[in-house]
Amino acid sequence: MSDEQHTKDNDEQELHDALMREQDEPSNGSSPVPIFILFLFAALCFWGGVYLIQYGGHFHKDAYTFDYNPYAEVAVVQVSLFDRGAKVYNAQCSACHQATGLGIAGAFPPLAGSEWVTNHQESLARILINGLNGPIEVAGKQYNGNMPAFGPNGLNLKPLEIAGVLTYIRQSWGNQASDVTEATMITYMDQYGSRGTPWTAEEVVVDLSAEPVSAAPAAEPVPVEAPAAEPVPADAPTEVAAAH
Ligand code: HEC
Repeated sequence: MSDEQHTKDNDEQELHDALMREQDEPSNGSSPVPIFILFLFAALCFWGGVYLIQYGGHFHKDAYTFDYNPYAEVAVVQVSLFDRGAKVYNAQCSACHQATGLGIAGAFPPLAGSEWVTNHQESLARILINGLNGPIEVAGKQYNGNMPAFGPNGLNLKPLEIAGVLTYIRQSWGNQASDVTEATMITYMDQYGSRGTPWTAEEVVVDLSAEPVSAAPAAEPVPVEAPAAEPVPADAPTEVAAAH
């Protein structure tokens, strides 16, 4: 290779190097966004939307807890008749019959240990729907006052509220009687709701229909069946005898 040729090659090489280094001259104006970036951006938005729908939990506040499951059924809080009744009792009855259910001697009869509370559901429903007045004997003592009506012609409690409070008084302070269901109270409300006068103690126990069957008192825990003890044969050797 001649010297001259070598120099020429070198020049060319340098020229190419320079060209490789140089960029376009900066100029004013906007250059279009490359189309593939646009596609990439659109795809990203689409993926983001799908992700939010799938995992966003409908923007519910609970969605930020780790174990949140957006597909879980919303649990409906079930308030038992008894718990509902306890609230109604404290708001509507305890002023007279007292939180203890013992009433006030000579003025307000007790509900604890009262046979009026634990006997026929229909008598009890009548007392609540229409009220009660005149002489009455409760747990061996005489009373003569006015029990207000809680039905449509009185303080207007809903059947569910009366069912709750009756269930509560039938299963508190040692009382043990069945639930009074909402369905039962709706039936009695239809029957007695339009009556305008309170009952007397004699009236309230006559012409009763068959008592509805409902759940046993919740207060009584269901006994857990103990495993039957191994029957011991009568002639089995005793511990002492076996030890020898
Ligand atoms: C303003 C006071 C007053 C309020 C409030 C009241 N009662 Fe009475 N209650 C009485 C009186 C007085 C009698 C007795 C009526 C009579 O002498 O004939 C009575 C009688 C009763 C009886 C029958 C007798 C007995 O002691 O077992 C029941 C059951 C009863 N009430 C339940 C309730 C319930 C449940 C509530 C709440 C929803 C309530 N009462 C609210 C005053 C009240």
